[in-house]
Amino acid sequence: MTYVAPNSMQARDIASLVHPQTNLLQHLEQGPMVIDRGQGIYVWDDSGTQFLDAAAGLWCASLGYASERLAKVAYDQMRKLGYYHLYRGTSNEPGIELAEKLLSIAPVKMSKVLFQCSGSEANDTAIKLVWYYHAAIGKPGKRKIIGRHMGYHGSTTAAISASGKPDMHAEFGLPLPDFRHTEFPHYYRRHSDGESEEQFATRMADALEAMIVAEGPDTVGGFIAEPVMGAGGGIIPPRTYWEKMQAVLRKYDVLFIADEVICGFGRTGNMWGSITYDLKPDMISCAKALSAAMQPISALMVNDRVFAAMLDESKKVGNFAHGFTYAGHPVATAVALETLRIYDEMDMVPHVQRVGAYMQQVLGRFIDHPLVGDVRGVGLITGIEMMADKATRTPFDPARKAGAIADKHARAQGLILRSIGDRIAFSPPLIITEAEVDELAVRLQKTLDATWAELRTN
Ligand SMILES: Cc1ncc(COP(=O)(O)O)c(C=O)c1O
Repeated sequence: MTYVAPNSMQARDIASLVHPQTNLLQHLEQGPMVIDRGQGIYVWDDSGTQFLDAAAGLWCASLGYASERLAKVAYDQMRKLGYYHLYRGTSNEPGIELAEKLLSIAPVKMSKVLFQCSGSEANDTAIKLVWYYHAAIGKPGKRKIIGRHMGYHGSTTAAISASGKPDMHAEFGLPLPDFRHTEFPHYYRRHSDGESEEQFATRMADALEAMIVAEGPDTVGGFIAEPVMGAGGGIIPPRTYWEKMQAVLRKYDVLFIADEVICGFGRTGNMWGSITYDLKPDMISCAKALSAAMQPISALMVNDRVFAAMLDESKKVGNFAHGFTYAGHPVATAVALETLRIYDEMDMVPHVQRVGAYMQQVLGRFIDHPLVGDVRGVGLITGIEMMADKATRTPFDPARKAGAIADKHARAQGLILRSIGDRIAFSPPLIITEAEVDELAVRLQKTLDATWAELRTN
């Protein structure tokens, strides 16, 4: 048991706060790591220890952890108009300008933008719009939503139902009845011996088609997926996967929601994951790097076809009966607009292409580490898989908690990692430099060596 000093920040936290995605019992004994301040890609805890954050918080702090420029924009906006809503036809300039900007940079032609405050709410909205759309076009039976095992789309009731995270369904009585999950494209772990990436991709698309046929195409309305799976482990789709999956969706007239909450705004080396993988979605959700995570905001873009159906349906009902109090909050939209300006000024996409290629090369060398079975990445997102025996592709017994051990050693090296099972996902702030990638690699080497030593001896 960790010693927690009375009245310390740790003690006050334990006495007052419930933390998401945390072992609550363990937390009562160990208390929190209190983050005190940040600069660039580094954060400092309350004892003054510095950490390089290779996860950008939760894949989101694209510009790092402090910004005078964004602070000034928020300050000015709060002084001019610190809040107004978008209900009942009310609007404001930052909201209008941000919607215009998003439509102008969308990866495929989009018609309109809806704002929310989180990725979960954007995806919940998209799911509701799948239902609304099919009701409008006279096919109200097309209600089922297909997600993927290990996909993650948020914590709200519908978004988590679409997610393929059994630990997040357990004991909540979820997923809701209309949700199904198809295979996920983790080629390294799930391919059979001798199966090429292309053959594996065909198998994934066949599984999706078989599911749609078994459920009945008249009952399947939407498919939601991340271009690159984030919380599933930083899983890069195998060659030809997206081309084959999209052909199935088109064949059965299933609306495609691209969840760009992580991939949007440069993460994969293009402005959108949909550009990197040539996706043609009907709706696109985005959040996180939209405001460099400095304000809680998300956006959902819908295409002409979806918007036309929304018009029909709201004509029938007399109102588009959906919304959130803080949707399109002027401070959040102003900060997001400034964030997008900063991306333009810093040539963010070419920067990610250059530093991303370097990071893939540097992290790629860890394939020679005895603990590492797979390293795969694109842009500034990479997954490293730790294996008990990489020669035979044998994973660790989950009870050994290799990921948690790596996390512990990383902290000791001043490195924040995101482990998911035995896979480590890297998604540093987009501003990371080559020199900082080298620094990350030094800390990672020590982390993996210590993890390997502990796993080998125990
Ligand atoms: C791909 C993806 N979609 C949706 C979400 C949910 O976003 P939020 O936590 O802002 O609700 C996340 C969060 O990590 C995500 O990674």
